[in-house]
Amino acid sequence: MTNTPYDLIVIGAGPGGYVAAIRAAQLGLNVACVEARETLGGTCLNVGCIPSKALLHASELYHEAQSGDLAKFGVEFKGVSLNLDQMHAEKSKAVKELTGGIEFLFKKNKVDWLKGHAAFTSASTIDVAGQSYSAKKFMIATGSSVTPLPGVTVDQKVVVDSTGALALPKVPKHLVVIGGGVIGLELGSVWGRLGAKVTVVEYLDQILPGMDGEVRKESAKIFKKQGFEIRTSTKVTGVTVKGAKATLTVEPAAGGASETIEADCVLVAIGRKPNTDGLALDKAGIVANARGQIEVGHDFQTNVPGIYAIGDVTPGPMLAHKAEDEGIAAAEFIAGQTGIINHDIIPGVVYTHPEIASVGLTEEEAKAKGEVKIGKFPFMANSRAKTNRDTEGFVKIIADAKSDRVLGVHIISSLAGTLIAQAAQAMEFGATSEDIAYTCHAHPTHAEAMKEAAMAVTGKPIHM
Ligand code: FAD
Ligand code: NAI
Repeated sequence: MTNTPYDLIVIGAGPGGYVAAIRAAQLGLNVACVEARETLGGTCLNVGCIPSKALLHASELYHEAQSGDLAKFGVEFKGVSLNLDQMHAEKSKAVKELTGGIEFLFKKNKVDWLKGHAAFTSASTIDVAGQSYSAKKFMIATGSSVTPLPGVTVDQKVVVDSTGALALPKVPKHLVVIGGGVIGLELGSVWGRLGAKVTVVEYLDQILPGMDGEVRKESAKIFKKQGFEIRTSTKVTGVTVKGAKATLTVEPAAGGASETIEADCVLVAIGRKPNTDGLALDKAGIVANARGQIEVGHDFQTNVPGIYAIGDVTPGPMLAHKAEDEGIAAAEFIAGQTGIINHDIIPGVVYTHPEIASVGLTEEEAKAKGEVKIGKFPFMANSRAKTNRDTEGFVKIIADAKSDRVLGVHIISSLAGTLIAQAAQAMEFGATSEDIAYTCHAHPTHAEAMKEAAMAVTGKPIHM
């Protein structure tokens, strides 16, 4: 028997799906959201953004206290010890509070949570836990999951994926990360700060693919200084586990002699793939592309009218805020409004120390499109950063050589994730570098480096 039809059923309650469901309900639609997990919030809140940031924050505090780095400020600690169980408990508490918060918001906005795994039975009906539900419109927001590495079995004990790496019961002596991307560097930082030796094995010739070349180079230098061993242009050909130890066989990516690396934990972090298994897309007539993603038009409709898709399951960066903003835009289209999202201005942040943030085009991308002017300002010359003894990194602004319009901003700084919001907003408003240079920035702040980088675009920073 099919239940009473909804105006909209959203499949998946990650940052894309739950936000879309709430927005659609705010706009007067009768909405349900299907979620197979025990708690709402998807990858991001349960096993992604939130628990990783909880551990990044806690491990940074531990490292600061334990390393003696604060002694120069007159802050001395004696007998600092790590209570990893407590660190995990505080992380779980944050996750519980935030996922519980979504449940509260669903109730407040009268969004029904349909618990279970959704599979299409037609273009207008789905099955969830043996019950059939129909709706005028559907939104697929099923997210993504870890890409497996052929021949490497994740046991979540010795060989882990990001979910396992967020819950290690003890600090490994040697953690080998396969993949020098965002997850590898963030979670490598967590365990490195807590005492592990961290080796990153990256297939490409540099870490952090897709980021600005100069940023990639500088980041690698910083991570090496922090003790990371980074082995680029290297591929893993196998991992064998004996008891609590793993042996990785690696060889040059271009081919050559192989060697082995011993580890007591291996983190596989080579990317994520869209979740479409078990959705029975064919029953609805939806065709995924060669990468398994669901392609959509400007209004987020799939090839089947009335069925929308957003977030990690669609092409584009796999980021929570991209999923959220698409969810809002798609809900607004469904409610008869015009949803807005600018896919050219989606900031990205790597939450290491220092943070690495970017928005818009990289220098390489911008130069491929035309002539550019570039302004750079190092935090070494920023008064607040100097005072805080926090001088790593720079702000780099790329502007169009003729119009001066800002095309991209890249920041390495302890506050990069916060500073990038200013750049995104300026770009959204079509700012030139001159607009940023003539905006009054409070002193003394790290943000002044943004103003000085903008001044450097036309060659006139003050403090350099
Ligand atoms: P998801 O969050 O993946 O949610 C999809 C939900 O759909 C899941 O809960 C799943 O159970 C459910 N589902 C799937 N199929 C079905 C079905 N058939 N029926 C019912 N339910 C279903 N991004 C950032 O922007 N910032 C960060 O700091 C950040 N940190 C991250 C750290 C880690 C370790 C990881 C793994 C990811 C991180 N991300 C981060 C990426 C971010 O988590 C994703 O981009 C984001 O969660 C995508 O949102 P989504 O709504 O598309 O999908
Ligand atoms: P990623 O795409 O960022 O990095 C994967 C890395 O693995 C790449 O450098 C790639 O070249 C390398 N690689 C691929 N195959 C390999 C192999 N066989 N051997 C060695 N290296 C190999 O993917 P990652 O780190 O798994 O993260 C997945 C997604 O999660 C990212 O797309 C990111 O958007 C999202 N995420 C975002 C965060 C944030 O916004 N702060 C934090 C964590 C994840």
